[in-house]
Amino acid sequence: MSRFENKRVLVTGAGTGIGFGICLDFAREGATVALNDVDAQLAGEAARRINRAVGAENVHPCAGDVADVAALREMVARFAAQSGGLDIAVANAGITNYGEFLTYAPEDFDRLMAVNLRGSYFTAQAAARTMIERNLAGRILLLSSVTGVQAHRNLSAYGITKAGIRMMAKALALELGPYGITVNAIAAGATLTERTLRDDPGYEQNWNEVAPNRRTATVADISTALLFLASDEARHVTGQTLVVDGGWTIYSPLPRDHPQA
Ligand SMILES: NC(=O)c1ccc[n+]([C@@H]2O[C@H](COP(=O)([O-])OP(=O)(O)OC[C@H]3O[C@@H](n4cnc5c(N)ncnc54)[C@H](O)[C@@H]3O)[C@@H](O)[C@H]2O)c1
Repeated sequence: MSRFENKRVLVTGAGTGIGFGICLDFAREGATVALNDVDAQLAGEAARRINRAVGAENVHPCAGDVADVAALREMVARFAAQSGGLDIAVANAGITNYGEFLTYAPEDFDRLMAVNLRGSYFTAQAAARTMIERNLAGRILLLSSVTGVQAHRNLSAYGITKAGIRMMAKALALELGPYGITVNAIAAGATLTERTLRDDPGYEQNWNEVAPNRRTATVADISTALLFLASDEARHVTGQTLVVDGGWTIYSPLPRDHPQA
């Protein structure tokens, strides 16, 4: 039997990138997955691609903006009603916007906080309420980043959200522990996705040069670690942030020619 057979999993922001890879890996291991994205078309295409790849109808698209708390609650309630519960929730949806501190715009700040912090917090809340109502010892996973561990130039607001998510894992683990729910985060290092490659065509080579293990993370590197935290093997791990960065935060150099250097 696969590790996640009969598990009901929600992943936000999963039309592409890391979230897509997480859905794919959960579906491969037998889970029923709600694949959320703010872009309805992208969510539908992503779910179809995964279902084709695994040869089953395990993945269900559900469009919605995680910054819209009412829509988020509705989405969680609908999926739990249709699938009979919710065992694992992954608050992956996040946006990245670069900008110098001295000229950073309030609208950019507000949108970043709304998606990255508010979205993650209320995804976790909606998931936890559903798990408690149904007496499920669930798992909540959050997406932090090495930018929440070390300061990065031109990423101050983004880094603040990702540092906040590390504290979110601790604070929610404290309140949800008595219900048997664990809350953990992954602090991903530079990860090769369609977006990061679009932003910097030399992304992989640049980060390969500075990571102690001489490689840039793949989506599968992040997903594998996250699935461990979602698994029964990690039942006694809670309130933690696992840094998955090939050792980059040991000394944290930026690549030569990097736009943020
Ligand atoms: N890629 C990296 O190098 C990296 C490193 C560290 C942390 N992270 C974090 O991992 C997560 C995923 O990153 P990624 O690089 O795969 O992102 P991405 O930009 O490739 O994909 C994010 C997806 O989320 C969707 N989305 C955006 N706003 C949304 C909203 N309000 N509601 C629902 N969906 C929304 C987008 O449409 C997109 O499909 C983010 O939280 C990010 O901060 C990424």
